Amino acid sequence: HGTSKINAQGHLEIGGCDVAELAEQFGTPLYIVDEALVRQRAREYVESFRASGLKFQVAYASKAFSVMAMCAIAEQEDLSLDVVSDGELYTAMKAGFPAHRIHFHGNNKTPDEINMALDANIGCFVVDNFNELQLLNALAGQKSKRVKVLLRITPGVEAHTHEYISTGQTDSKFGFDLGNGSAYSAVKEAGSLPHLELLGVHSHIGSQIFEVEGFQMAVDKVAGFAVKVRDELNIMFSVINLGGGFGIRYTEGDTPLPVSQYVKAITDSIKTNFSNAGYTLPEIWVEPGRSMVGDAGTTLYTVGTSKDIPGVRKYVAVDGGMTDNPRPALYESKYEAILANRANEALEETVSIAGKCCESGDMLIWDLELPKVNSGDLLAVFCTGAYNYAMASNYNRIRRPAVVFVKDGQADIAVKRESLDDIIGNDVIPARMKQAS
Ligand code: LLP
Repeated sequence: HGTSKINAQGHLEIGGCDVAELAEQFGTPLYIVDEALVRQRAREYVESFRASGLKFQVAYASKAFSVMAMCAIAEQEDLSLDVVSDGELYTAMKAGFPAHRIHFHGNNKTPDEINMALDANIGCFVVDNFNELQLLNALAGQKSKRVKVLLRITPGVEAHTHEYISTGQTDSKFGFDLGNGSAYSAVKEAGSLPHLELLGVHSHIGSQIFEVEGFQMAVDKVAGFAVKVRDELNIMFSVINLGGGFGIRYTEGDTPLPVSQYVKAITDSIKTNFSNAGYTLPEIWVEPGRSMVGDAGTTLYTVGTSKDIPGVRKYVAVDGGMTDNPRPALYESKYEAILANRANEALEETVSIAGKCCESGDMLIWDLELPKVNSGDLLAVFCTGAYNYAMASNYNRIRRPAVVFVKDGQADIAVKRESLDDIIGNDVIPARMKQAS
């Protein structure tokens, strides 16, 4: 998919770059991002919304992969940006991302983070709870500002997804509950706070969702709520944000729809619900993360040791693992992979891909069919663009890999590989420990 193909030498090629050459030049493990595919996804979203005729913003959920190069692409593709911490906000600002297109999320924004965002004049705060309503109003007041807000509501829609990443049901740490009246109270309160300008509501029902029904149900609930609030409180919403969650295909079992179909289902449902209620059509915002970058990322590893347990299994270890991709260990996520340097050879053995961390759970893929694997071979694991680099760690003091963006035969570093000095960069030995005993 994307610009990936097998070249004449039997090597995997992405963005016109032979990955064996990338391994040579940049080392492994290496995250490779197919820039054309990221841009294609961004355009699919923007064009699908444009076709709906509604006003919209497509905010890339930068938590999926927040690096300055990615923010630069989001800017060029006319996306907005969703950030959830001072770190993501800082990344966006340093990349020159326009502040008025930044939305700040999170269930526990600190006063420092809120002040930083107020000073940057970001476009919108997505307020999660009553404490934050008061805090934001107070901090904005101290700066004599009035800021745009959305209220995150929990619509009580449960999307089909892995339970660890469901956020839409009632028992959730996020948002104002629609069912028990707290969303209603929050709207009333927001409407009365002088330093907040209430634009509307936000709902995020989960992640890696394949069906449109969950989104349609969320729109139904949100529209019903909007009408109630208009009729009873005389407050109108000009923006409805439906969050992210659009699925991608990691393995055969995954059956996502094309972006255009999710967008059409959502926009149709907005039009129907709001027009039927005689409501001025609101602007519609979404926040895709995974579907913007997930399938554009490939992780390239070098095969090292293996352990064959006759009649049981063969373990093949690569030079990365749960430090660069914690998703299999955390969520039992499945990935597909190939031998990137012998990509057109027949599949001959079933192996399980182990990482190099000192932990039995550090397995990347179970039971993968490969050609006969040798030490030094390159393994390419697909669909690692989202929540991989973003969730990478230095466990075992392993260095985070480099990230390269490839396009039209050109490969450029977007994040340098960490050095050993980066690893100890923040370490300090307290003076008393250096005293002779
Ligand atoms: N908006 C909000 C408010 C969110 O909480 C999320 C994801 C998104 C947008 C983007 O959702 P996406 O389009 O990427 O599904 N670490 C997990 C995923 C956690 C998602 C958290 N929220 C994973 O690796 O699967």
